[in-house]
Amino acid sequence: MNAPTRDLAHSADAKTAEEGLAAENMSGPVDSKMATDVAMQNTLLTPRFYTTDFDELDAIDVSPVRAEWDQLIARMKADPNKGHFKKNADWDTVDWEGMDPKLRAEFIDFLISSCTAEFSGCVLYKEMKRRGKNEDVTGLFQLMARDEARHAGFINDALREAGIAVNLGFLTQAKKYTYFRPKFIYYATYLSEKIGYARYITIYRHLEAHPEKRFHPIFKWFREWCNDEFSHGEAFALLMRTDPKITQSWQNKLWIKFFLTAVFSTMWVRDHQRPAFHEALDVDPAWYGQEVFRKTSEISKQVFPLTLDIDNPRWRRGLDRLDRANREIAAAKRQGGVRGKLRQWAGSAKAGAAFLGLLSIPSQRNEVPDTSRLEPAY
Ligand SMILES: [Fe+2]
Ligand SMILES: [Fe+2]
Repeated sequence: MNAPTRDLAHSADAKTAEEGLAAENMSGPVDSKMATDVAMQNTLLTPRFYTTDFDELDAIDVSPVRAEWDQLIARMKADPNKGHFKKNADWDTVDWEGMDPKLRAEFIDFLISSCTAEFSGCVLYKEMKRRGKNEDVTGLFQLMARDEARHAGFINDALREAGIAVNLGFLTQAKKYTYFRPKFIYYATYLSEKIGYARYITIYRHLEAHPEKRFHPIFKWFREWCNDEFSHGEAFALLMRTDPKITQSWQNKLWIKFFLTAVFSTMWVRDHQRPAFHEALDVDPAWYGQEVFRKTSEISKQVFPLTLDIDNPRWRRGLDRLDRANREIAAAKRQGGVRGKLRQWAGSAKAGAAFLGLLSIPSQRNEVPDTSRLEPAY
């Protein structure tokens, strides 16, 4: 039986997700309805909560990858980032009042959506750990849930300074859960962990070279952060490698292509909605997008039998079409009324056509190596 959860001062020191979620910094006096409302949104572009067939996931046998598995779990258990995700002397004072209002709004939106995404991982992993009996699987998910609780808690700390907090307890109860079969959870979650790594490390390296552009201290924490996401991605790579069918049957290859295209294009559109944020960092969102896709593609060769042809001229054209369609949809929503609805449908049809165009670009074959283990190299 588990010992009762005691109140911990900070989620960064938590040994389990439960301890992290009960930590004092998780529920402050500030509860912002605006932030929670934003986090509650379920659109194609906002982070979702997932549920799956936990019994099927629990039935996985990791014997085919045992040696790599044990090494990975040992590294995660050693917990190199314990205590890392909290403010210390490196946390410079943030001038929220003096921040350009557009930047402030976009940055807060960025923090809320990152917090929701981290927390979404925490909820899914914690649930798997709770439902499962397979010690390999529950052991892994317990460790990943611990990390995501710390990440979400740390972003909430940053938001709280701006007088905002996402009500995580309320989200768990009230947010809609999307059901994905386990193999779709593998593709989607593997990709979101690896793209998370690529996103965080690309910003971190950019700001290392241009520290004057670091307008908020949270970016200083991104290197250790992305190493956690890297390990989580490694775990999903191993889970997929337990059964060759998951990545090698022709139907599943199509699904992999679908998920790669969906995850990449969603990131593109979402990032292009934050021009002031990228300008403040002095990062061109198109350059950033392609750079992150390149790193993620390179990493995903450890397990996926194909990569997207992101240098094909149709790729950029398709992403730009999708972005334009998305702006039309947003403008139509603001317009409202019957005409707004009609324009919204027209925009959605254009977005659908752009997405199909992206999907129809021939992918590049990849010969998957015998072992998947990678080190974070960027
Ligand atoms: Fe995370
Ligand atoms: Fe993660």
